[in-house]
Formats: sequence, structure tokens, C-alpha cells
Amino acid sequence: MLSSLRTGVQGVWRAASRSIQTSSALQHDSLFVHRDTPEDNPDIPFEFSEANKKRVEALLGIYPEGHKRGAMIPLLDLAQRQAGGWLPISAMHKVAEILKLPRMRVYEVATFYTMFIRRPIGKYHIQVCTTTPCWLRGSDAILKALTEGTQCHVGGNSPCGKFSISEVECLGACVNAPMIQVNDDYYEDLSVDDTKEIIEKLKRDEKPKAGPRSGRFASEPLGGLTSLTEEPTGPGFGLQPGLKA
Ligand code: FES
Repeated sequence: MLSSLRTGVQGVWRAASRSIQTSSALQHDSLFVHRDTPEDNPDIPFEFSEANKKRVEALLGIYPEGHKRGAMIPLLDLAQRQAGGWLPISAMHKVAEILKLPRMRVYEVATFYTMFIRRPIGKYHIQVCTTTPCWLRGSDAILKALTEGTQCHVGGNSPCGKFSISEVECLGACVNAPMIQVNDDYYEDLSVDDTKEIIEKLKRDEKPKAGPRSGRFASEPLGGLTSLTEEPTGPGFGLQPGLKA
């Protein structure tokens, strides 16, 4: 009796003293909780420009009555472009007002998609893909060159205010890894030297050449075509004579 009690107590003690296994905490570089700041609060008015008001009308016209909320993402994108690359809360409220929706419906969308930036950013928003294919092809070195060249850390703005860097998941250009996105342009097949050249040009407000830096077209193989190299055989190929017209 005594020994079984001792065994039970020891078991409870072992279970209680077992260390808790935890994985390392990963943090996104964006905070999806709104905090009023001097540059982003509901008291700052937002209105679409005259040119964008026409675009808003055109976008709303695409969607049938009763489904106008389908225009929410295009409208948020338009607002973000007008606001200088990020989405102030007043712009979200304006979109909710146009779509006649509760503001919460707009908050849900704007904080779900990482394409909507919820903090003031620099003129050049550099998104660095560090997902597996890009990582295997050297995205760590690309990221280092970017942070050193711009003096900007991931999730922050450079001291000159021109650059912002975000670390992102796959941008769908894995065949051209490693790659970065600067505003709307992709820069692919990058080396560290290419990255430095891109930063230097952007510092001078010149536009670097977008696309692959390896000399190939899009994602074609570097050594020329490896398949579909013959003339297409055309209709009727392989049919027995009796079935041919
Ligand atoms: S992994 Fe980098 S673009 Fe897909």
C-alpha cells in the first residue's frame, strides 16, 4: 500500500517537473492592431481625389446591385495608392462609407491581406521573399545587402525615409529565386551585386531594370529550350489510317 502510494506520488512529481516543449516565437513584422497616432487616426480626413472618384465609380459599376462589397479590395488598393503606399484608418472608413458596410467588415479585410500596409512607409517598399526556394538560393545574403545598403531593418523605415523593408512569404516567382519586389516591380535571379546596384539606383530615384538579372527571358531555362523543341505534329498525329479524313 505504502509502496504503491510512493510510486503514485513519484509519477505525479515526474509529470509535474517535465519541461514544457515550446517552439520559437515567430513574429510578423506588421502589427495588425490599430493604435491612434498623430499620422494615423480617425480625425484625419480622407477623401478620394477627383480622378480616383471616377475610378471608384468605374469599379463599383463592375459589381451588380447587392454585391457592391466585392469592390472592397480594389477600393482599398486605390486608397492605399493615393495615401502614398499605406492605408490610414480614415481611408478604411471612407471605403466602408462608400460600400455602406460596418467599419469592422473593412478592418477584417485590410488586416488579413499583407498587401495592405498599416503604417507609414517609405517611397520604396522592398519586400524580400525568404521562403524555402529563395532561401536556398541565397535570400539571406540579399536581405543582408538590403538592410546594410538602406540602413533599414525588417519592418522599419530607413533613416532617410525613402526605404521600407518587409520580409514576406513566397511571391510566386520561385523559378527566378532569389527575388525581391519593390513597389509593383519584381527583381529576380538576384545576386548580391545586383541588389546593391538596385539600391544605389533607387537612392538616386532612378528606375532599375525590372525582371530577371540572369539574362534569360522570364523563367525560360538558362541554357535554351529543353522541351517542345520540334515542330508541332498537328492534328491527326498517331491516328490509324482508317480514322484519318
Ligand atoms: S519562394 Fe521566393 S518567390 Fe517563391
